Amino acid sequence: MFDYLIVGAGLFGAVFAREMTDRGRTCLVVEKRGHVGGNVYTETVGGIPVHRYGAHIFHTSDETVWRYVNRFVPFAPYRHTVKANNNGKLYSLPFNLNTFDEIFGARTPDEARAAIERTRVPCDAPRNLEETALATLGSEVYRLLVKSYTEKQWGRPCTELPPFLLGRLPVRFTRDNNYFNDTFQGIPREGYTPLIEALLKGSEVRLGVDYLAHRAELNALARKVLYTGPVDAFFDCRLGRLDYRSLRFETEDLPQPDYQGYAVVNYTGAEVPFTRILEHKYFCGADVPHTVITREYPQAYAPGREPYYPVNDERNTALYARYRALAEAEPNVLFGGRLGTYTYADMDDTVAAALALAAREFAKE
Ligand code: FDA
Repeated sequence: MFDYLIVGAGLFGAVFAREMTDRGRTCLVVEKRGHVGGNVYTETVGGIPVHRYGAHIFHTSDETVWRYVNRFVPFAPYRHTVKANNNGKLYSLPFNLNTFDEIFGARTPDEARAAIERTRVPCDAPRNLEETALATLGSEVYRLLVKSYTEKQWGRPCTELPPFLLGRLPVRFTRDNNYFNDTFQGIPREGYTPLIEALLKGSEVRLGVDYLAHRAELNALARKVLYTGPVDAFFDCRLGRLDYRSLRFETEDLPQPDYQGYAVVNYTGAEVPFTRILEHKYFCGADVPHTVITREYPQAYAPGREPYYPVNDERNTALYARYRALAEAEPNVLFGGRLGTYTYADMDDTVAAALALAAREFAKE
């Protein structure tokens, strides 16, 4: 009999497994995919760790979390900068003085503020993302860098998207192209898979096992379950399905040393169907004569596709609250991770949440 059955070998399940193993508990980890790591999984192709489920940059201001992940694998320093391609012209992201120079020819913070002011569409109480963007960034920045990109990402017009989705990108009046404001930033030198493998050391891991298809027999193997799969699926979607946004990735190994010169270029125009191209060698500085790129296409979610982003609108927030009540009443099952709690969580928040859950569990015993 195992102490814990952990459903999902993603970052959340792996950190929880590590913590419990280190406290002398036994863990059985079941994962329905053919590999560990969940969405942070990387596969090394000709010396380049390829981020199979989208670009993953570890960034945090939580020193405890940073020290924790650095215990298991060496991290290479990395500073994330992103370019936007609109109709062949490149712009700097996140919005900063370089961006405003590229769009308006603004050379100083005052010139940039004045240019934005000229194109702003004031709105006292913005009701959607479009109104928020027009009121804060102005019509030109919105047209070139926000509108089509966001509509491709979410599959809905910006007039139907909540204002808070815009809030994740900083606006600066310096020439700082650093995408993140966090104190610590890096990427494991050999990719994320060795990190997950180190976290899972000491646990029994079974790949290609769908917990929901073998629930009774797997439950019988452990005292308690940690479930990190989709919370609605756990309850057979009996209250209705939660919505997600899905993605499709098209990866090519090219026989040339480089392709775009940046790890990530966003395609912000409506004329191309994908939202980004990743060039994986720039995440880790691999010095090899070929390069691997991935085009990222947002797509509608349907059963059988990977659920990537929760859709935190009114309907789904209310529906999740009802599933959460069911989850809290479920005996001997803990729910965690981005799918188990229907949330978007960066990796540092995922690690912190798994550490906190493990500490609470241990304190209860
Ligand atoms: P995750 O989904 O990784 O793991 C859950 C696992 O459970 C999966 O492996 C799944 O197959 C398995 N599972 C589900 N149902 C099952 C079942 N019935 N039986 C068995 N197994 C089952 N964060 C960040 O800090 N920096 C970044 O740059 C990015 N970039 C990024 C890009 C994209 C496109 C996305 C969608 C997300 C990011 N993130 C990120 C967030 C990051 O991916 C996230 O924090 C972690 O992957 C969350 O780990 P979890 O273990 O919670 O979920």
